[in-house]
Amino acid sequence: MKNTRQTALTFLCMTFLLLLANTSTASDVKRGARIYQQYCTPCHGQEGNGRGPRAKNEALQPPPRNHTNGFYMNMQSDVRLFKVIKFGGKKNNLAHIMPQWKHILKDKEIFTIIAYIRTLAQDPEYVAPTTQGWRKNPYAGDEREQLKDHIKKQ
Ligand code: HEC
Repeated sequence: MKNTRQTALTFLCMTFLLLLANTSTASDVKRGARIYQQYCTPCHGQEGNGRGPRAKNEALQPPPRNHTNGFYMNMQSDVRLFKVIKFGGKKNNLAHIMPQWKHILKDKEIFTIIAYIRTLAQDPEYVAPTTQGWRKNPYAGDEREQLKDHIKKQ
């Protein structure tokens, strides 16, 4: 019973905080960037591309997520990012290498990081399949496979 109530309360708090987070400002982004530089860049890299010093020579497997990959990152909700950052990879079916930050970062700080991460994600440039060849997207799989039905119709 206590657990159910706790879960409900956590959910309510998270919803409220997410509403707050939706109103992120330029100063949030700046603050998030500072925290990111301090805690996240050793793995995720200065530019957020997943190539931090700790990930050199494929030392981390799976590699830290590339936060500049809009193809993947723009598909993830704020709730999802919040959960992974707060509770860590293991609790969210990702690698345990991604630490939990709940003992170090306040919820509000996590939201500023999310605001910053959103500024990193770039949608990849479209590459026409006929002239440039097919791209393999590490997260989305083979584009050719996804477009198979579309191609047949053409
Ligand atoms: C010790 C290395 C390490 C540190 C430090 C680290 N991460 Fe990660 N992070 C990872 C790895 C590895 C993954 C990929 C996990 C996987 O693919 O299973 C990851 C994945 C993520 C993801 C992807 C979530 C998703 O839905 O795919 C986010 C967001 C993230 N990290 C944010 C952060 C933030 C913010 C910080 C700093 C507060 C941070 N990470 C610090 C290693 C790290």
